[in-house]
Amino acid sequence: MSAKLATMIVTVAAFKGGVGKTTSAVHLAAYLAERGTTVLVDGDVNRSASRQAKRGALPFAVWDERRIAMAVREHEHVVIDTEARPGPEDLEELAAGCDLLVLPSTPDVMTMEALFLTAEAVSKAGGQDRYKVLLTLIPPPPNKSKPNRRAVEARKELETEKVPVFRGEVRRLAAFVHASDAGVPVYEVKDLRAAEAWACYQAVGREVTGGA
Ligand SMILES: Nc1ncnc2c1ncn2[C@@H]1O[C@H](COP(=O)(O)OP(=O)(O)O)[C@@H](O)[C@H]1O
Ligand SMILES: [Mg+2]
Repeated sequence: MSAKLATMIVTVAAFKGGVGKTTSAVHLAAYLAERGTTVLVDGDVNRSASRQAKRGALPFAVWDERRIAMAVREHEHVVIDTEARPGPEDLEELAAGCDLLVLPSTPDVMTMEALFLTAEAVSKAGGQDRYKVLLTLIPPPPNKSKPNRRAVEARKELETEKVPVFRGEVRRLAAFVHASDAGVPVYEVKDLRAAEAWACYQAVGREVTGGA
């Protein structure tokens, strides 16, 4: 048998739907697919990643979660899109079951509150260096030269509470909606801001791989 490098397992989970969980899983997988064999394991009952793959063309395989053992054996990178709305105990297991648990969150008060409760539970369970919050769907700032105020505040709050957070953040851009509708990564979309959208996940991808 040929020697195989250890698989990197990245799990994406969120406390509520519609925060960019699947979009994050798809684009992190697209980033990793440029660096090695990659599979996205669809563990969400909504099967939205699987449906995107059928609608369009993604540059990696999307497998049902029942194939997860084989997925890990056969790929260098495994990205898992998980069930919606995990509880604190689910989070603890999810964190223990991967190299990095990515928690996309929008920068609004309700989502952030739920996030803090769960982050606390994961940290208490010893998983504090295994997860990272990803701020997503950041609304455009009123003034182009200024960053979005809510995102700045959310980041400050996370840092005060010592919750790990990606430096990169994902803006709210229509290109992402076109991409998920078409079932392609955002860099395939004909949109003036597609490159900007992809750059958001490339920055996050570099943090995931440690710069590679
Ligand atoms: N950064 C973004 N900017 C604009 N729309 C986005 C962004 N991320 C996700 N979306 C869109 O929001 C909707 C929900 O995103 P999705 O990733 O499916 O969320 P979840 O998996 O958390 O339910 C989709 O239509 C998707 O295209
Ligand atoms: Mg989803």
